[in-house]
Amino acid sequence: MTTGARAGGTASILEARDLEVLLGGRQRFLGTAVPPVRAVAGVSLTLAAGETLGLVGESGCGKTTLGRVLLGIQRESAGEVLLDGRIVSGMDRADARKSRNAIQYVHQDAGAALDPWWSIGGILDEGLRVHGLGDAVARHERIDRMLGAVGLDASFRLRYVHELSGGQLRRVALARILLLEPRIVILDEPTSGLDLSVQATVLRLIQDLKARLGLTYLLISHDLSVVQRICDRVAIMYLGRIVEIGPAAQVFAAPRHPYTRTLLAAAPRLVPGHEMPGANLIIGDPPSARHLPPGCAFHPRCAFGESKCTEAVPRLEAAGAVHEVACRRWRAIDVVPVSI
Ligand SMILES: Nc1ncnc2c1ncn2[C@@H]1O[C@H](COP(=O)(O)OP(=O)(O)OP(=O)(O)O)[C@@H](O)[C@H]1O
Ligand SMILES: [Mg+2]
Repeated sequence: MTTGARAGGTASILEARDLEVLLGGRQRFLGTAVPPVRAVAGVSLTLAAGETLGLVGESGCGKTTLGRVLLGIQRESAGEVLLDGRIVSGMDRADARKSRNAIQYVHQDAGAALDPWWSIGGILDEGLRVHGLGDAVARHERIDRMLGAVGLDASFRLRYVHELSGGQLRRVALARILLLEPRIVILDEPTSGLDLSVQATVLRLIQDLKARLGLTYLLISHDLSVVQRICDRVAIMYLGRIVEIGPAAQVFAAPRHPYTRTLLAAAPRLVPGHEMPGANLIIGDPPSARHLPPGCAFHPRCAFGESKCTEAVPRLEAAGAVHEVACRRWRAIDVVPVSI
């Protein structure tokens, strides 16, 4: 592990070391075993206090699973999570949650994560009550202040989930976890399903809250334009592994991994007029996460692959001061003529 997976020398607040997560394997009563999915396959990364790290990759690559492990609601199969330099994995669920109250998670589906039977006031009060934070009067005041902070007036207390728009639901979801005073927030697809103008306001709110409350973010998103707008660094994930990580500006301007190039090609407005050789060359669908190809899992879809790519899983190596890439061909790619 070299520098890019670390956050540029600043003190690490949250760290993943060689995390592995196997999900859903089972032995059938009669017949063949169903192999588990290796949803996270040896991920190491750090989050520096105050930064926003983007986590990007296609559907099913393991982003949410990684977020859940960092949060402590999903057990890792191997590896460990460190919070403020202390190992917090391996504890039982209750202890893990307690030690990780500093980390909160905004669910990928904000609406589904909020109880439809409770008023917004009830939903916001619940977390405070569970954590024993203040008497009824103090909680009431805190909730009003927090509603204000996310741009909702106090009348929202009496409303219900089905009465709120997508953007308002995101605000409530943010208010709910911010009441618990986290230091680290994992935002899972915070703008998906919102139209562009609402996306922009939610993103502004996310940035504003970060500055005001001194938060550190892990932002999970499919949407590269969101990541480019608000992330300091970006990690690109493919089938359970980080394949490239570095400062967002550098990764977007000079992506090193062929997979990152294909992602950028799918979002051309990010780099107008910036043609990348091979950027649009992606072959077929991703392989099944249950049966990964040998060596580099991207090689069957890669326009730059060669037979050696099937031999070993490439490890992250330095491609710049704080930029890492897991591709044995990255140095050659800029000069490879494109002929497909
Ligand atoms: N409970 C489970 N049992 C078995 N496999 C699972 C389970 N949960 C997730 N998976 C599998 O683990 C892999 C990673 O899933 P995950 O939800 O972390 O992906 P993701 O990157 O968040 O996708 P999306 O962008 O669609 O939200 C996928 O192959 C998924 O099918
Ligand atoms: Mg997800």
